[in-house]
Parts: sequence; structure tokens; C-alpha cells
Amino acid sequence: MLHARVGPGVRKRPRPAEAGVQRQGEVKFRDVRLYLVERKMGRSRRSFLTQLARSKGFIVEDVLSDEVTHVVSEDNEAAGLWAWLKGRGLKELPKMQVMDISWFTDSMREGKPVAMETSHCIQDTLPTLPEGSTPTVSQYACQRRTTTENNNKILTDAFEVLAESYEFSEMEGPCLAFRRAASLLKSLPWAVPCLEATQDLPCLGERTKAVMEEILQYGRSFEVEKTLSDERYQTLKLFTSVFGIGPKTADRWHRRGLRSFTDILAEPSIQLNRMQRTGFLHYGDISRAVSKAEARALGNIIDEAVRAITPDAALAVTGGFRRGKEFGHDVDFLLTTQERGKEEGLLVKVIDRMKQQGILLYCDYQASTFDMDKLPCHRFEAMDHFPKCFLILRLESRHVEGGVQRAEGDDRGWRAVRVDIVSPPMERYAFALLGWTGSRQFERDLRRFARMERRMLLDNHALYDKTKEEFLAAETEKDIFAHLGLEYIEPWQRNA
Ligand code: UTP
Ligand code: MN
Repeated sequence: MLHARVGPGVRKRPRPAEAGVQRQGEVKFRDVRLYLVERKMGRSRRSFLTQLARSKGFIVEDVLSDEVTHVVSEDNEAAGLWAWLKGRGLKELPKMQVMDISWFTDSMREGKPVAMETSHCIQDTLPTLPEGSTPTVSQYACQRRTTTENNNKILTDAFEVLAESYEFSEMEGPCLAFRRAASLLKSLPWAVPCLEATQDLPCLGERTKAVMEEILQYGRSFEVEKTLSDERYQTLKLFTSVFGIGPKTADRWHRRGLRSFTDILAEPSIQLNRMQRTGFLHYGDISRAVSKAEARALGNIIDEAVRAITPDAALAVTGGFRRGKEFGHDVDFLLTTQERGKEEGLLVKVIDRMKQQGILLYCDYQASTFDMDKLPCHRFEAMDHFPKCFLILRLESRHVEGGVQRAEGDDRGWRAVRVDIVSPPMERYAFALLGWTGSRQFERDLRRFARMERRMLLDNHALYDKTKEEFLAAETEKDIFAHLGLEYIEPWQRNA
């Protein structure tokens, strides 16, 4: 006899009562039993989505059993998810629909289970290219040349809003997908005229393409506009714009009902730390971009302080300004001395001197935790171990060519600026310089490339070859690129 399956996931014997499982809402779709995979999604989001689906008449099972018809997963890589599912001892697994969260989202929006499309299938994190084909553009930012000239700003701005919003929700997968897509588009020497033109490009998935298509067609994206007007996004964006307030703190305060700076400052139970107090104190100044001229002036001032202590040291600008950016959120410097082991002492003396000069408004000094025996570090994007300081300096207008950037009506004659100084030992200089030059996306891809393509581990301290089981020495950035078998990319081509 033929067991007719009227559509995906029709049950042979529906269970009579949902008591105990389904509490709220009446069941509208008896043939569909959802299971939400908690892995990557997280418990609280899973419970939120469960309630949402139940309120719309869907059956959501708490436990993964053979009764389930649709498995919904978020941010899970296909291979890992299948391995996990196969380990659950399910007999009916081959009959189950394993869907990406986009199917769930679409179904919630429609208020009914929508028909399955290819975009709803679980995809590998990176679109894989057919064998034998050679992409003209690399999926790795460290194999692309990205100047400060961005021909696709409308699109990359949109992607960055969505990436940030996913970051606020701690959804790393989609966040990274939008960041990679933005980075890819920044490297193009042409403006994307239409979706077809992006056919052969890597890093652009279904979702990024959907956003792109809307913008190319209508000049705007529904999803982006919804995000921008989302109250939680706006509040977290506002709170995290304060020096010392990260997404976790911002989220906690938002959940407590706080919506504005006044709310935070008027809340008696909130004890701001020193960093946050400084953040509020200098909010106007440090949320205003730092210009190239200001960065140069700060370089001269710090260099003078260094020279007064020892002639045997070098100060170099890194970060965005080394990449040729016109403006930055801070100024990053690398300080080194020829004398072995003296870099830590030197940085402390430089800080002391700036204090005496009365220009040190804030200083968070972090002593060295560097230990060659603890390398290579397997934690991706962990803080490096060099002595460093996160500062706020007072910059006098008269020291800056054309004066400081200031708000209208501000006639103080100075402004506060965020400055970072890191002081690696000489033999770690090339690694530190490469790591601190950025961009963040360029660094991420350098490390990913090293790991995935070369079996090497790269961080701000060292490059380790896992095959040879040895560290590879480097005196210059070029040495590091050469070890990795990469063409050298100039700092101004690293604005990925
Ligand atoms: P920034 O955050 O200063 O970014 O970090 P940026 O590219 O200069 O951009 P703006 O203009 O200031 O916003 C510069 C580089 O230093 C690395 C970051 O990963 C980035 O690549 N960095 C920063 C570290 O390696 N360690 C840190 O503790 C901080
Ligand atoms: Mn910077």
C-alpha cells in the first residue's frame, strides 16, 4: 500500500492532545510540528520564538522526537548541524524538513507555513564555488586591495546596519555574513549596477542579495529601515556610543527600561565605572571624528614626550590613519625601543610625562601579560598581551593645523581625543604593526586565511606553522605576507 504524503511532513497519526506542550494559542496547523534547535540560537531566543510560533497557531515541540516534521535552525553550518541531528537516534530523520530560520521568519510573517524555497535550505556558511572554477575576486579580504574609496557606500552602509543589529542580538553568523558582504563590495573598483553583475562574486548569500536587490531597485531596503526605526537598536546604538559601554551593558540597561542618557544618569542603582564616567564627561568630544591633522598633531606631541625620555625609541601611527583614512574614532600608535625589555618602562614614563604636561584626561594602563610560552593563542581575536594604554588626551587647538574639530559655538580652544598606545618588544614589532593596522575585517580574514589555507596561526604576537610545528620569524610585514604565500598588500589597500 502506498503511504500517501500529501505534502512535506504530513503525519500518519496525529497526536490527540497538545496538553502540557502547547499552552497558549489554538492549534491551526496540525500537520506541522516544529522543533527549534537551541544550538547557536540560544535558550532565550528559542523560547521567544517558540512562544511567537505557538501564538500564531503552530505546534512547537520542546523535545526532538520522531513526531517532529520541521527542524528549524539558525546560524548552524550544514555539516555540523547534520552531524548533530544524526547523533539524536531518530528513525524519521530522512523525512524531516530541516529548515533555515528564514523559513520560520517567512512563515511567521505570513501567519502560516510557507512553501519551501531554496533560500530556506540550510547553507554552508560560505557559498562554495563549483570545482575547477577560479573566482576573479577572492573570498579573503587579505587577497583583495581595498582603498578608502568605496564605490558601493549605499549598499555597504545598509549591510553594516544589519551586521550591527545582529551583533546586538549576539547572532554571530548573520552578523559576519553581512560584514563579509560589505567588505567584498568595498573592494570593487566599480559600483554595482544590478544584481546580475554580482553573479560571480563570493561572500554574497541569498539574504545579502535580497537586501541589495531592494536597494538597487528602490533605493532603500525594508529590513534596514525597520532596523533603523527599531527602538532596541536605537537605544543600544546610543548607549554603546559612550566610551566604556559595551553591547552587554547596553542590553542590560535597555532590558531594565532605560532609554536615554538621562535615564541612566538618573537611575540611583546604577554605579558607573571610571571609564563610563569619563565617557559621559567627554561625550561630545570623543564621539566627534578625529581628523588627520589632529592625528598628526598628537603624533608630534607624543613623539616629543618620547624623545625627552630616550632618543632610542620610535613612535609610529597605526590603525585607520596608517591606512590613509581622513577621519578616525581614535588615534593608534605603536611605541618601541631598541633596548630589549625596556618597552614597558618606556610607556609608563611617557604616560607620566603627559600627566605632568597636564594633557592626560584619562588613562587605562594595561601591563604586559606577554609570555612566549603561552603562544600560539588559539583564541581568535583575543586581546593581545603587549603593554598598552587607552587614553583620552587634551589636544590644544593651537597645536593643530587649522585648529581642532569642534562643535558649533564651542570656543574652549581644545578638545578631548581618544588615543591608544601599544608597546611591543622589538622582535614582535612586525606582528603588532600588522595586527594594529587593521582593518578589523582585514585582520579577521588574514587569520582565517592562515588557518584554513595554510594551517598556520597568526595573531598580534606571532605566526605559527602547525605543519612544521614552529614559529616563523618576521622583521617586517612583508616577511609575514611572504610566509603566508600572499602578495603584499599596502596599508592603504587594507581598508576592507
Ligand atoms: P581601531 O578600533 O582603532 O580601528 O583598531 P581603526 O581601523 O583604527 O578605525 P577607527 O578610525 O579608529 O574607528 C585598529 C586595529 O587595531 C586592532 C583592531 O583589530 C584593528 O584592526 N586592535 C585594537 C587590536 O589588535 N587590539 C586592541 O586591543 C585594539
Ligand atoms: Mn583607530
